Amino acid sequence: MEHTTFSKLIAGVMTWGSWGKNLNTSDMENLIQVCLENGLSSFDHADIYGGYSTESAFGTALKQSGIDRKKIQLITKCGIQYQCENRPNQIKHYDYSKDYIIWSVETSLKNLQTDYLDLLLLHRPSPLMHPEEIAEAIHRLKTEGKILDFGVSNFTASQTDLIQSAIKVNYNQIQFSATHLQPMLDGSLDYMQTQNIRPMAWNPLGSVFKRDDLQAQRVLSVVNKLAVKYETAPDLILLSWILKHPAGILPVCGTANPKRIKQLIKATEIDLELQDWFSIWVESTGNKVP
Ligand SMILES: NC(=O)c1ccc[n+]([C@@H]2O[C@H](COP(=O)([O-])OP(=O)(O)OC[C@H]3O[C@@H](n4cnc5c(N)ncnc54)[C@H](OP(=O)(O)O)[C@@H]3O)[C@@H](O)[C@H]2O)c1
Repeated sequence: MEHTTFSKLIAGVMTWGSWGKNLNTSDMENLIQVCLENGLSSFDHADIYGGYSTESAFGTALKQSGIDRKKIQLITKCGIQYQCENRPNQIKHYDYSKDYIIWSVETSLKNLQTDYLDLLLLHRPSPLMHPEEIAEAIHRLKTEGKILDFGVSNFTASQTDLIQSAIKVNYNQIQFSATHLQPMLDGSLDYMQTQNIRPMAWNPLGSVFKRDDLQAQRVLSVVNKLAVKYETAPDLILLSWILKHPAGILPVCGTANPKRIKQLIKATEIDLELQDWFSIWVESTGNKVP
C-alpha cells in the first residue's frame, strides 16, 4: 500500500497550547502559516495535548486561517486516557477497544474541524491490545473516509508484528535523536526498513538543549563545530544527522518559535559527510565505534 505523503519535516504541536506556549488563536494561525510557507505542511497532534484541548485550539485557528485543507496533512493519536479536567478517569490507562478508537477519531475530527485525518497513530502500546478489534476499527474509519492512513507510536518490533497480524502498519513514531540512539541499535529501525514502515522521530533534538549532562555537553560541542563548518545552526545539524539514516525518518519538530521554524527546512539540504555523522555518534556514546 502507498504511504501518504508528508513534508520531510513535521511540525509537532504538543507545546503550542496549554502544555507550553499557550498561543492564542491568532498566534496559532500565524504559526500554522509560517510552517506552511516554510516547507512544513504536516502537523502532528495527539488527542491528549493540552489536556485534550490543543486539537480544538488548532482547529479554530485553522478554520480562521482559511487555509485549503488539502494543502496540509493532519496526524493525530489516540489511546491514552488520563485524568484531567476534560476526562473523568480514575487512573491513567490505555484504551484500544473498537468503540473507543472510533469515538476518539470522531472527537478529534470535530475538534480539528475537519472531516478526515491523514494519519491516525496508536499512541502507546498496551498489553491488552486485541489486533483484530483494532483492525476492525481502522477498516471502518478508512471505509468511512475518516482516516487515510494508519500507524503506531512507541511500538517495538514485536508489538508492531502483533498489530500487523491483523492490519498493515505504515508508520511508527518513536523517540530518536543523536542522544537517544536505542532504535538504531536494538533493531527497531532495521525492522521498519524491512517492513516498509516509515519511522517518524519525536524529540529529534534529544537532550542537547534540554539537559546539561555530559552527553548533551559533548554532543553540543561537536554540533557547534559542525554548524560552523556547514555554515548553519546546531539544531539543523541534529536534524540532518537523523535525515541521513537510510530508514527515511521524518523528524517531528517541536519548536513553537517562528524564527526557528523558518530555518528548519534547510536541514534537508545538509548532506553530512560520513565521518562527521560518525563524530556525532561517538560524542553521544562517549566511546569510539567498536
Ligand atoms: N509519539 C509520542 O509519544 C510523542 C512524545 C513526545 C512528543 N511527540 C511529538 O514530537 C514533537 C516534538 O517533540 P519535542 O518537543 O521533544 O521536539 P524537539 O524538536 O526535539 O524539541 C523542541 C524543544 O526544543 C527547544 N528548541 C528547539 N531548538 C532550540 C535551540 N536551537 N536552542 C534551544 N532550544 C531549542 C524548543 O523551544 P522553542 O519552542 O522555544 O523553540 C522546544 O522546547 C511534539 O510536538 C509532539 O508532536 C510525540
